[in-house]
Amino acid sequence: MRPRRFLPTGPLKGRIRVPGDKSISHRSIMLGALAVGETKVTGLLEGEDVLSTAAAMRAMGATVTRTGEGAWTVNGVGVGALLQPEAPLDMGNSGTSTRLLMGLVASHPITATFIGDGSLSKRPMGRVIDPLSEMGASFEASEGGRLPLILKGASPAVPIRYRLPMASAQVKSAILLAGLNTPGITTVIEPVPTRDHSERMLRGFGADLTVETDADGARVISIRGEAELEPQTIEVPGDPSSAAFFIVAALVIPGSEVLIENVGLNPTRAGIVEVLRQMGGSIEEVNPREVGGEPVADLLVRHSALKGIDVDPAIVPAMVDEFPVLFVAAALAEGVTTTTGLEELRVKESDRISVMATALAAAGATVRETEDGLIITGTGGEPLVGTNGTIATHLDHRIAMSMAVAGLASRAGVEVDDVRPIATSFPVFETMLEGLTA
Ligand code: S3P
Repeated sequence: MRPRRFLPTGPLKGRIRVPGDKSISHRSIMLGALAVGETKVTGLLEGEDVLSTAAAMRAMGATVTRTGEGAWTVNGVGVGALLQPEAPLDMGNSGTSTRLLMGLVASHPITATFIGDGSLSKRPMGRVIDPLSEMGASFEASEGGRLPLILKGASPAVPIRYRLPMASAQVKSAILLAGLNTPGITTVIEPVPTRDHSERMLRGFGADLTVETDADGARVISIRGEAELEPQTIEVPGDPSSAAFFIVAALVIPGSEVLIENVGLNPTRAGIVEVLRQMGGSIEEVNPREVGGEPVADLLVRHSALKGIDVDPAIVPAMVDEFPVLFVAAALAEGVTTTTGLEELRVKESDRISVMATALAAAGATVRETEDGLIITGTGGEPLVGTNGTIATHLDHRIAMSMAVAGLASRAGVEVDDVRPIATSFPVFETMLEGLTA
């Protein structure tokens, strides 16, 4: 464990460029590994989660090489030609690697064992086991459909038409990736839209993928199997989920003004910006453009007096990873912020509803936990008291970074028990923070 106390700070000033988007980075390596020829990726997130994906694709036959900072090449084996891995695939802390790779393996004639750390081994995999079993794959999972598990792929797999029982881009993507090597048409029906990076990138690699809206407004996504993917050149935009920590920090620390460059603003991801603006946050989009087929802008963020709001549950999927840091903003806003519809947060790297309720209360915030959210009464801009003891982060990077931001806006500082998990998604978080407070 590496504990650290995050101390109160003066204004944050300067410009930063956050690392590449985690979701897009995973997908660029996976699809590159399935194309025949060389895919070139720049701006790749070199976090532990993405490195787990890279190692797994190597173990299944792809050549994945780092050629410079954030610059990687992937020489793929072709759809249908993944090799049997010789050792268990170690997914570390990464749910995205696990669920998406389960999809890939499910329609290949190979058997793979998936293992992970203490956090990942508590997370539910039944949500992908169910549809992939319908496609013909077989599983030997640990109790409750958890890791470690052994997956035997089906050859050929059977195409399915599957309605997602929860809003999950990982489950959607697992099925679409399984569909790549399944004869016929595999369809996923998504009643509530989630991040669409898989759809965008599959199309970019030349897959035959269509998206329609049915009479009930659900998205119907179909992919034609036994696809041939063409290698691509991909520029990964900056991760809005990483930017969110600095957006909130700049909003809550008086006198701050920070320019965050190259932030991905795909509408299925950018909910945090909208909600913080509803709370009164000054977030200006500068130089809007397109990077790697995704909308991107630089964000100019200035300290603002935030007000509590009722967060519309319809926006949850577009900011599902940003609630821990939104809770910190709410704890420092004026009035009450109410969040509902967050049940999926309980099955992330930790139970983010209950872990953040405990953490914020320990730092002096007024928080009430409900079944599906938190109700937070803010300080009206006054700093939080800070912690005496140590916050338990439960191997969850976003808890550690969120409580780091809380520490910056406190009187006594906030101590977290372990900053190591930050490296799963944002290895340079602490360095960037030091640059802005110097
Ligand atoms: C992700 C989807 C989301 C998100 C995760 C990344 C993805 O998970 O929380 O960090 O890349 O598809 P769910 O699909 O479980 O909501």
